[in-house]
Amino acid sequence: MQLMTLLDGKATSIAIQEELKIAVTERMNNGGSRPHLAAIIVGDNPASRAYVGHKIKACERVGFDSSLIELPDNIREDELIHEVQMLNDDKSVDGFIVQLPLPKHIDDQVVLQAIHPDKDVDGFHPIHAGRLSLGLPSFLPATPAGIMELLERYGIETSGKHAVIIGRSSIVGTPMALLLSRNAQPGNCTVTICHSRTQDLPSITRQADILIAAIGKPHFVTSDMIKPGAVIIDVGINRIPDATKKSGSRLTGDVDYQAAVQVASAITPVPGGVGPMTIAMLLKNTLEASA
Ligand code: GUN
Repeated sequence: MQLMTLLDGKATSIAIQEELKIAVTERMNNGGSRPHLAAIIVGDNPASRAYVGHKIKACERVGFDSSLIELPDNIREDELIHEVQMLNDDKSVDGFIVQLPLPKHIDDQVVLQAIHPDKDVDGFHPIHAGRLSLGLPSFLPATPAGIMELLERYGIETSGKHAVIIGRSSIVGTPMALLLSRNAQPGNCTVTICHSRTQDLPSITRQADILIAAIGKPHFVTSDMIKPGAVIIDVGINRIPDATKKSGSRLTGDVDYQAAVQVASAITPVPGGVGPMTIAMLLKNTLEASA
């Protein structure tokens, strides 16, 4: 049996946060200002609250200022846009995010397009999406950027490899495909995007040297879908019932981890894989926004 590499996103994220902390201290010593990230959260989706809480805590760890703006579920779209404009105009805020998903009565795109691109540290504005597709410098969406960072830091060879991405979302699958196919290191992959209409999915995923699962379905990727020796990146964060836990539930990915470790050459765990990397990349974008 070949050795399997655990792609430890938690440890890597902590290492990046240490680097950011040093960069902040250096900047402060040179008379610079402390980076400030703000986050808007609408409603009380428990998962979203937990994610935003992690982001705010991470700001404290690296020495950034942070603000949390909590808004009610029944806020009108124009009221939310007014909050966005206030942050656009607030000179003390370097970057901010609007945590997704938003309530159904609000159009995500209208809100995201109201964010000033210079402060859009999620990289969701069409300006950033367009610049990414042209290979121009931009704020990169944190999840795909975190995956690229993990591949780089673990020295995973990507050039000429076939990367298969399951999921075509605008925040993970689509930017992931652009980054992996770029003429860069890491990059230079041949990329296939699979989605809900893909026919005979296992026959495609079995060709993947690098398989990225971003669909939000627990244990969707089974061992028969994995080529022996593949690198597996699990973006899923799904809560499933587990009677052995005090809370009655636990987090699990889109990949059947126990089965995948038998065939993969490297894999990200859930939790402790892609999730922590996303936070590190958001902080990195915020430091850049504050420069
Ligand atoms: N919801 C899920 N992932 C993200 C993210 O990276 N940023 C924001 N704002 N919302 C999300």
